[in-house]
Amino acid sequence: MSRVALVTGGTRGIGAAICKGLKAAGYTVAANYATNHAAAEELKDKTGIPVYSWNVASLAECKDGVRKIESDLGAVDVLVNNAGITRDCVFHKMSEDDWNAVLDTNLRSCFNMCQAAFPGMRNRGFGRIVNLSSINGQKGQFGQVNYAAAKAGMLGFTKALALEGARKNVTVNAIAPGYINTEMVASIDVGILQQIIDKIPVGRLGEPEEIARTVLFLAADDAGFVTGATFSVNGGQYLS
Ligand code: CAA
Repeated sequence: MSRVALVTGGTRGIGAAICKGLKAAGYTVAANYATNHAAAEELKDKTGIPVYSWNVASLAECKDGVRKIESDLGAVDVLVNNAGITRDCVFHKMSEDDWNAVLDTNLRSCFNMCQAAFPGMRNRGFGRIVNLSSINGQKGQFGQVNYAAAKAGMLGFTKALALEGARKNVTVNAIAPGYINTEMVASIDVGILQQIIDKIPVGRLGEPEEIARTVLFLAADDAGFVTGATFSVNGGQYLS
């Protein structure tokens, strides 16, 4: 029986690359998504990966979603908390809604999804949780007080939960991608984006597949001694 992997925000961008990478490596994969049904159907049609729509900011929806996947595919062995949004804006103009939306989708979602999946992993004595943080949670970013706070919060969450999972063979790690070639990054003003790319030592954006290969490393059965770690995959843009 192949391991079951669940990827939140799994139908587009980095999440879709992670889903495809896991499937190619032999995992049974489920992709969660929020509202973009067209993108979800496209991924399903092209790859055969089943897609499940729910809001990761809702604990009840996360619990229902994981229950449904477990009844369809089997117990979730690998959880990739990838779902995330931006609401970039300078702080003095940032609304409470901009703050709440980003904190709820990016950080509360980790609490919600782990509440749904972690107890079963503990009981079964195996689990791999990978949290997609960001370079901007490590270094801060002008215009991203909300996003940087959420992504930095994920790093503390990862370290603390790693300690709790360690004795049960449940590892919890974070990846901190730099600027990756996705719709999210493409939405940055072109002049600002060029200034950012100019500061990336490898001289280009990363590709979603370059994040997926890091997830595969962390998800593996024989990665059990790697836990509580943060993997920077950022082309040398920030060395922590
Ligand atoms: N450092 C210092 N000052 C800066 C600055 C910076 N990095 N960027 C802009 N400023 C200054 C501007 O020069 C301007 O100064 P003046 O008022 O004196 O002219 C002032 O700040 C306001 O700047 P803007 O006119 O750019 O403000 P804006 O409201 O139009 O735009 C913003 C603000 C939308 C946040 C824009 O700066 C921006 O898009 N920045 C990039 C944010 C970013 O990197 N987002 C990443 C998204 S992708 C992602 O998040 C994935 C991931 O994990 C990496």
